[in-house]
Amino acid sequence: MTETGKKVALITGITGQSGSYLAELLLSKGYQVNGIIRRSSSFNTARIEHIYQDPHEKDYRFRLWYGDLSDSGVLLKLLSQIQPDEVYNLGAQSHVKVSFEIPEYTADIDAIGTLRLLEAIRYLKSSCKFYQASSSEMFGSSPPPQNEKTQFAPRSPYAASKVFAHHTTVNYREAYGIFACSGILMNHESPRRGETFVTRKITHAIAKILNKKQEKIYLGNLDAKRDWGYAPDFVEGMWMMLQQPQADDYILATGEMHSVREFLEEAFKLVDLDWKNYVETDPRYFRPTDVDELRGDSSKAKAKFGWQPKVKFKDLVRLMVIEDLKLAGLDPSKYGLEARHPLTATFLKDLP
Ligand code: NAP
Ligand code: GDD
Repeated sequence: MTETGKKVALITGITGQSGSYLAELLLSKGYQVNGIIRRSSSFNTARIEHIYQDPHEKDYRFRLWYGDLSDSGVLLKLLSQIQPDEVYNLGAQSHVKVSFEIPEYTADIDAIGTLRLLEAIRYLKSSCKFYQASSSEMFGSSPPPQNEKTQFAPRSPYAASKVFAHHTTVNYREAYGIFACSGILMNHESPRRGETFVTRKITHAIAKILNKKQEKIYLGNLDAKRDWGYAPDFVEGMWMMLQQPQADDYILATGEMHSVREFLEEAFKLVDLDWKNYVETDPRYFRPTDVDELRGDSSKAKAKFGWQPKVKFKDLVRLMVIEDLKLAGLDPSKYGLEARHPLTATFLKDLP
């Protein structure tokens, strides 16, 4: 708590898709929000620029600190300096395909990075609550529907690292009484999704194709099926988990499953194009092992704290297409689309 009674949050991965929405949500709830950012030779803060506050302002509530999940010393220092009530560990090398190329780094950040943070909390005897960004990728080859009891069968260095982080979170809860929750989240997307993830790659390409700046889109496995939800819905679920009387683990999901092919069909249809004329496959986008089907069962989160996603597949595709058209300087109304999808929630301001 701050001197003025505000709750204090610390977010790793604040510059990422979910970190930026979570920061907005917590600011809108009156929190003081602290985020760890990495030093980069070019700006990596585009997703949070619209909520940036000048540190010279008195009582500014949005504070950024340099750090890295590879650096135990800085994690210890920041935890003891900031004294957070809630820690959200969203920082990760989050790209599954890339994890096959940099497996050791992925494990260092996604697995050992989580251990470093929990160990710092334990060492400092902090009473903060801890959220771990676990992933439906951990289920790997276990068939859907996946729930909290489904066996983990990871299919990538990323997923194996997240399994380690999940078990470590549970272990620190049981061994040391830390209020630590593992949120096992199905894929969540938004107009702020990184452009190399398949949904955004598609909606971004559509805008470029319409602008005649791109002719084709090259993709990998079109048969993969995912349970795609909307990131702002999901960050609300993260926060809700930490407001419960007891720490526990929860799945967040829409319960709907669609293939990459269906995403293509739905997205291209919105701008009156036939996806088959624009999509080519490129072996470089196939993974050594992929996850075939993810469809989550989030009935535990619904029963325990009433969490339900507001945005499902069709609305998600539509709002992502609309925002990418606008970003590319195109008028959505030319394609019969609204200027702003009514379900496009941003907590404080319009998208940058
Ligand atoms: P994202 O957009 O890729 O953001 C990842 C964040 O982690 C960025 O802020 C990134 O910083 C930061 N980061 C990377 N390496 C780091 C390091 N060494 N030290 C500290 N921070 C580091 O990912 P997201 O979609 O927001 O996902 C957030 C978390 O949820 C991740 O842990 C992801 O694995 C997990 N998750 C995501 C989904 C999903 O569908 N989105 C589903 C389940 C779980 P830079 O901006 O400097 O790169
Ligand atoms: N990225 C990408 N690029 N994926 C492609 C492509 C392509 O060109 N073509 C087909 N795909 C397929 C992938 O093989 C995968 O089966 C599916 O599309 C989804 O890929 P991504 O969008 O990269 O997401 P992901 O499911 O691998 O991982 C995301 O969701 C996880 C939760 O299940 C990431 O956000 C992870 O961090 C997250 O944990």
